[in-house]
Amino acid sequence: PLRIKDIQQQSIDANNNQITIQGWVRNVRHQKSISFLEINDGSSIAHLQVVAENPESLKGVKHGACVSVTGNLVQSKGKNAELKELNLESIKVIGDCPEDFPLQPKLHSMEFLREIAHFRTRSNTLGAVLRVRNRSTQLIHNYFNRHGFINVHTPIITAGDCEGGGEQFHVSSTVPPPPTSTTATKNTTPTTNTPPPFFGEKAYLTVSGQLEAEIFASSHGRVYTFGPTFRAEKSNTSRHLSEFWMIEPEIAFINLTDNLDIAEDFVKYLVKNILIECKDDIDFFNKRVDKNLLARLEKTVASPFIRLPYKDAIQLLLSAKEKFENPVSMGIDLAREHEKYITNHYDGVPVFITHWPKNIKPFYMRESEEDSNTVENMDLLVPEIGELIGGSIREERFDHLHKRMSEMGMNIDGYDWYNDLRKYGSAPHGGFGLGFERFLQYVTGLQNIRDVIPIPRYPGFCKF
Ligand code: 4AD
Ligand code: MG
Repeated sequence: PLRIKDIQQQSIDANNNQITIQGWVRNVRHQKSISFLEINDGSSIAHLQVVAENPESLKGVKHGACVSVTGNLVQSKGKNAELKELNLESIKVIGDCPEDFPLQPKLHSMEFLREIAHFRTRSNTLGAVLRVRNRSTQLIHNYFNRHGFINVHTPIITAGDCEGGGEQFHVSSTVPPPPTSTTATKNTTPTTNTPPPFFGEKAYLTVSGQLEAEIFASSHGRVYTFGPTFRAEKSNTSRHLSEFWMIEPEIAFINLTDNLDIAEDFVKYLVKNILIECKDDIDFFNKRVDKNLLARLEKTVASPFIRLPYKDAIQLLLSAKEKFENPVSMGIDLAREHEKYITNHYDGVPVFITHWPKNIKPFYMRESEEDSNTVENMDLLVPEIGELIGGSIREERFDHLHKRMSEMGMNIDGYDWYNDLRKYGSAPHGGFGLGFERFLQYVTGLQNIRDVIPIPRYPGFCKF
């Protein structure tokens, strides 16, 4: 069946221009001798206008209803003469929509829409997000496929803690008790002991697929994961979710410059193609959500990203006239206000901060050759969002890694397999993680990360 996105390209055949469209009513307007209906079917941001010469024919057709309309496709006679519209012949209400439908044809707050996540993708903004999210997913797979990467599925339930932040959700199931026999024997003593953990050891939801991706980079050279990750962060911010999706390439035989080059090329490829393939939706966001969106995205594609060592970033902040709430000194982690200052300073061009202090970064990052207090890593800061990517070269030398893990008081036994990768045929390698929802915030201009995932999870919210 025909979909609304294809209608404007449809040529009008004078002899047979009858079509049928199914969708949801976005608006009904009655004038004295004519009525109008706007239909959307999710295939694009565009609505199809249906014109009823006989208003009686639309009697009882309500906003929100699911309908099937049949009519003749004609060039519009109204102010949008370049558009096609449908002269109604018949309409069938497939699913009626009572007046108390929570999604009314008016501007609802994003907070309210989150409460009705089961309806919100029938609104323009959330409908567009879903399409951009889908195209972005496909572009991500295209990019890696073109460059010879293998997509690997790493486990969701893990035993390790990749980032070492202790922000993991526990998987607390236990081994189910043996079925009780119906013919109970006399000497069965009821067990009051707590049942053992399901996996025999502690298990968590993964915070990152990186450590496991390193396994496969050590056999296939170029791999990537694209999966859900979970963090029990208390952060109730517009940039944190408890469940988010991450893209993590892991690549053998690269150095930090290669890693930066790949990350930059990847982001540019995605933004460039989204601007082309999701043009209508991005135009909508630019008009309705953020007037600077297009300019910002075009700049991202056209400008070489800044590459700034951490120590120079701190110098820049120290020389700022601005008074920061979080004091600046060598060794600090950057707060949101610092990130903002840096991206503004470079006029909205994305900035990689490299060579961070070892002490505030995870155990797996490789020490810099020039300065053993820093690591071979990078964070990509983009305007409006802040950190979009985190990545590094990994410590591939067995003794260095072992030493670092001991210094950090880690349970080395639990990482036997990880250390084995260094012991047997170790290869220099590295990679990065791009937060998918932060990326979608970046390309849609939406202020809150809870609005770029179909159904969000954040502290205090696990509805649906
Ligand atoms: O910087 P992070 O913690 O890095 C890692 O997890 C590495 N293992 C990645 C790697 O090298 N393979 O997370 C990577 C990105 C961040 O830059 C951010 O975009 C996103 O993941 N992110 C979140 N997005 C939404 N909600 C959260 N709570 C997030 N935490 C991180
Ligand atoms: Mg990070």
